[in-house]
Amino acid sequence: MRRLLIAGNWKMNASMTTSSALLSELVNADISTCDVAVFPPFPYLALAAESLRASSVRFGAQDCSDELSGAYTGEVSAAMLRDVGASMVLVGHSERRQRHHETDALVLKKAQQILAEDMTAVVCVGETLAQRQAGLAEKTVTEQLSLLLSQLSLVQWQRVVIAYEPVWAIGTGETASPEQAQSMHAHIRQLLGQVSVALAEQTRILYGGSVKSASAAELFAQPDIDGALVGGASLDAAEFLAICQS
Ligand code: PGA
Repeated sequence: MRRLLIAGNWKMNASMTTSSALLSELVNADISTCDVAVFPPFPYLALAAESLRASSVRFGAQDCSDELSGAYTGEVSAAMLRDVGASMVLVGHSERRQRHHETDALVLKKAQQILAEDMTAVVCVGETLAQRQAGLAEKTVTEQLSLLLSQLSLVQWQRVVIAYEPVWAIGTGETASPEQAQSMHAHIRQLLGQVSVALAEQTRILYGGSVKSASAAELFAQPDIDGALVGGASLDAAEFLAICQS
């Protein structure tokens, strides 16, 4: 049985004050029924490390460099993230694919850096509205996963989580219906199954895109939805905790 993982992506929405408040609400909450992780912006990772020291809530970064170390001004390496205590890193979020032109090859390189540091890579995939309307949703997601499926070993895959985030549902208030999400998750699991049955059974596939407490329970009731990557709603402690408790 795969445990639900609820991950909060704060994006570029935080300050020292709001981060402290949010982290202390998480520390004091009873969320033992699922795995919970938060992804604060880089400047607040040390605060997360300090606040969550005695908590089961894990924390990670929203991105990392595809390089190991060296002359890459402005970049943050996977090793540095590990060094401050992060155990997970998001990679390939659609906002980075779109704004920073991140390709599947770059996403693979970043995932390899994360895995080399024994952290979990949460790889985001998802189609745009135009791709869905053109009937290309499954093809798009298949392509986004194909390099990872061909290049990562089964041992590496033990520390990969997939987050299916249809681009048209991110921050728009428009959630994919439970049926739409389930159908894509089943497709992703079938792709994993082409590599190995165990891989399909073990890999957690999260849904992301305007998840709220009101929609969470129905999403989590789907057989192939193993949790959520939550953006906007993760900035409101009560709302985020209500999703965790769904
Ligand atoms: P949202 O963001 O929940 O605000 O739609 C999800 C995400 O981008 O991870």
